[in-house]
Amino acid sequence: MLAITPSRLASRIDALARFGALPGGGVTRPCWSPQHEEARAWLLGEMRAAGLDTWVDPAGNVFGALGVTALAADRPLVLTGSHIDTVPEGGVLDGALGVLAGLEVLQTIRERDPAHRLPLAVAAWSDEEGRYGSLFGSRAFCGTLDLPRVGAMAAVDGERLVDAMARAGFDARRAGEARAPAGSVAAYVELHIEQGPRLEETGSPVGVVESIVGVRRSRVIFIGQADHAGTTPMDRRRDGFLAAAEYALKARDLVVKHGGGRSVTNVGVVTVHPGVSNIVPARGELVHEMRGPDPDTLARLDRRSAALARRVARRRGVEVEIRPMSATTPAICAERVQVATEQACAALGLAFTRLYSAAGHDAQNLAAITDAGMIFIPSQGGRSHRVDEMSDSGAIERGANVLLHTLLALAQ
Ligand code: GLV
Ligand code: MN
Ligand code: MN
Repeated sequence: MLAITPSRLASRIDALARFGALPGGGVTRPCWSPQHEEARAWLLGEMRAAGLDTWVDPAGNVFGALGVTALAADRPLVLTGSHIDTVPEGGVLDGALGVLAGLEVLQTIRERDPAHRLPLAVAAWSDEEGRYGSLFGSRAFCGTLDLPRVGAMAAVDGERLVDAMARAGFDARRAGEARAPAGSVAAYVELHIEQGPRLEETGSPVGVVESIVGVRRSRVIFIGQADHAGTTPMDRRRDGFLAAAEYALKARDLVVKHGGGRSVTNVGVVTVHPGVSNIVPARGELVHEMRGPDPDTLARLDRRSAALARRVARRRGVEVEIRPMSATTPAICAERVQVATEQACAALGLAFTRLYSAAGHDAQNLAAITDAGMIFIPSQGGRSHRVDEMSDSGAIERGANVLLHTLLALAQ
């Protein structure tokens, strides 16, 4: 049976891991950073050396294609891909696996020439991790980028997207031109590490993704009063940080109790102003995220957490401002892609499990314009978004072969 070359894929994973490598392992490679741009140049070189035609669109998405040199409605292609940007202090497989396995699969198909009718391409989507706004490249490609907002998009440290892109040689205001012509993508399938413990704990070598969670993010700002930290009596303080801290703990309880068992929540960004040890905090600011596979549950949790924030603020004598940052709805994967993946597993003698993705992925945007799906492989210990994220070499090889046969079936 046709199979990828595992050593070639492994050496490319090692090579890409050098860009932004951290001394103790893992990698920091935010989109548009010098490390990312070096990785992009390396990737384009690898794609060309593998015999693919390449292009980069105005949103910075990188493409390597077999049988076409551009997207066109009259010649739809079957697409795979993922991303080469990482979270800070992230692992070497989140995103890299899907891009490099896609490249390996296309190279295998070019070399061995199995029968297929439709052209194929692999994409590396820009800023999947959302330093400036989540899933930026695939949103531009799928036509759901809020173009008037591009000028205001910024990282939590304040760096503006327009400046980061300009430094990398791109004009952010042209990102809308990356939109794919209607009908130009016949199907999309992305290989990714699961990033959680379910496959490993159930002994399943392959996950066939049925749906991808929705994610809501809001900035919750508690505004109290700055005061002298030594002289102000405790009962007169209006502490913005303590209100934020109480809200964070209670929001967690709310999601655990009323989230239907599958909703999760996180506070990953906290800012205290003015941030000085001898001043009572005037402001405590959180980025509050909630995720879940059920849209109604997510909407209900959103309403209840807003009410909770107002209650906490009232009790503590502070003001609260809630600024919604982003809200995605759960995406459904196409049955056709799931069946093609399951048939590929059966042909390879691999068991599989259907599951929902608890992480966000570019495939959720692609699902709005084409039949889209995802293939998961187990993550060691369920670990991801940390430097020791890893999957077994056998799991990587199996996943890439499932991708190969799924793409070939979709391209018939
Ligand atoms: C992407 O990594 C996400 O935040 O789910
Ligand atoms: Mn990812
Ligand atoms: Mn990630």
